[in-house]
Amino acid sequence: MCGIVGYIGPDNAAPILLNGLSKLEYRGYDSAGIAIYNNGKIEIVREVGKLANLYQTTDGGSAMPGAPGIGHTRWATHGRPSERNAHPHSTERFSLVHNGIIENTQYLKKKYLSKVSFDSETDTEIIVRMLQTFCDGGEEPFTAIAHIISEVEGSYALAIMDREHPEVIYAVKNKSPLLVGRGDGFNMIGSDAMAMIKHTNTFYELMDREFAVLTCDSVEIYTRYGKHVKREPFTADLDLTDTEKGTYPHYMLKEIEEQPVVIRRIIEEYTNENGDLTINDKILKDLKECDKVYMIACGTSYHAALVGCKMLESLAGKSASAYISSEFEYDMPILSQKPLFVFISQSGETADSRAVMVNVKEKGYKTLTITNVKGSTLSREAEHTLLLYAGPEISVASTKAYTAQIAVLAVLASCVAGKKCPLDLKYELSVAANVIEGLCSERDSYKELAREYVGDSTRCFYIGRGLDYFVCLEGALKMKEISYVQTEGFAAGELKHGTIALIEKDTPVIAIVSQENTDLHTRSNIEEVVSRGAKVLTISRSGLSMKKDSIIVGDVAEILTPLVTVVPTQYLAYYVALLHDRDIDKPRNLAKSVTVG
Ligand code: F6R
Repeated sequence: MCGIVGYIGPDNAAPILLNGLSKLEYRGYDSAGIAIYNNGKIEIVREVGKLANLYQTTDGGSAMPGAPGIGHTRWATHGRPSERNAHPHSTERFSLVHNGIIENTQYLKKKYLSKVSFDSETDTEIIVRMLQTFCDGGEEPFTAIAHIISEVEGSYALAIMDREHPEVIYAVKNKSPLLVGRGDGFNMIGSDAMAMIKHTNTFYELMDREFAVLTCDSVEIYTRYGKHVKREPFTADLDLTDTEKGTYPHYMLKEIEEQPVVIRRIIEEYTNENGDLTINDKILKDLKECDKVYMIACGTSYHAALVGCKMLESLAGKSASAYISSEFEYDMPILSQKPLFVFISQSGETADSRAVMVNVKEKGYKTLTITNVKGSTLSREAEHTLLLYAGPEISVASTKAYTAQIAVLAVLASCVAGKKCPLDLKYELSVAANVIEGLCSERDSYKELAREYVGDSTRCFYIGRGLDYFVCLEGALKMKEISYVQTEGFAAGELKHGTIALIEKDTPVIAIVSQENTDLHTRSNIEEVVSRGAKVLTISRSGLSMKKDSIIVGDVAEILTPLVTVVPTQYLAYYVALLHDRDIDKPRNLAKSVTVG
């Protein structure tokens, strides 16, 4: 959701910015722009639509020589997607790009900008106008930025250029992600490491309400009061190839097929020197001492949380419930005496989850974040973090992060259970990784099934019970978000309470049957829809399978079935989206990192 890149150094900035922005495309955007300093002027190009448009207008950047520069991909929040609303926004002196939402715009306009007319409908323009106004009033940019931080409410990551001082650029951060990249003779700003990894793997983290002054050779960080901060850089263990598609046509397909490797990596990362699965002692202590685990998450991560709660209850006898962040925030249930809050978030930046984090921390409760992104906001703000080790997930539709979340939650549950754990989880996880590998080798058959069962239908249903129902929710979300086929996941037993009215001739229904205590019940629900004309594609677990089932997944421990039954649902979504000629990695209206609430 909005991407920022900045560069100051001896090379022409535009090609570097365009490349950086291309690495941020996965976050979702609807327009893009760059500002480049050249010969006493700041030149700006902005385009609606794909980054390819900006590449074309600037001839890959070569039509815009000069440095420093800043660039932006915008995901519209205030003001529709248009050239006028695209960033950078500028005054005669400053150019600025912004990620986030300014909450007190009316107050700021009234207090500082009552005589100013605006070029755009964005909240961002207010900041650049304030900067100009403060500097016109005699402030230096340094103090004007500190002044802005003290006045502006909301979330903002900013990169700023000053036409009168092209030897510096500024980075400012509050609640929205932003990193500073340190190079040799150059420095960079980026929404995440991937935007800069081609040039450097050394980064400075900025804390909320801090800002940084970058020259070619230095990075200085300051608090909002202008006090200098000494901060050690960190190195990101990111490989450039992790961010490339390689021979795959889409990131989503690559990420689906990385799942066995990710599960094996999780086993390795969470194995101690005695060869046992382990998590940090302090986390374990808090988990054991709490009387209930509250899992907080959105979307796919929420679906993983539903499975995680079942794992905690069935493997470790620990009470656990999952909540959708945006619901929990406004409608908190009566809490237990000693709760522990577990935040599950691939990106670690999701605003809805963060709002809950802020709330429960204020109340003094303990917090653990399970995330793929080291150093992300939710990770920094929680007392504890467990990492997913899934590698960058670029496709907007989450696949490998979902299975990684479930695998890490399984490790967590088995560690809480300790010796009482009824499973050799390490072994069972490796079996699951092998089964997924087998499923991946069948990808061509899923393509055929996608065509045969869903084809050009405009709607589709997933049905299942228990853990299968949770996978149905995830399978349906995946299908609808990338193919735009309206798909709903139902608890199979609920069909007859209303939804079955929608079943007619050739309605696609995908049934999941992997749970021993309910397989026959789901089978009878399948019969109910078949007798009303539905085309039923059944995904079953070997051992519970029947001859006519379309996809049979290898046997895994029952509690781990979501890890494997989800894989065909990911492929089906992918191939249906391909049939419909959708923009698979960047579905419409969606962003990878939902940093607004
Ligand atoms: C769907 C998807 C989203 C995310 C949700 C939460 O494929 O990716 O539903 O799961 O936006 O994001 P994170 O996990 O980053 O908090």
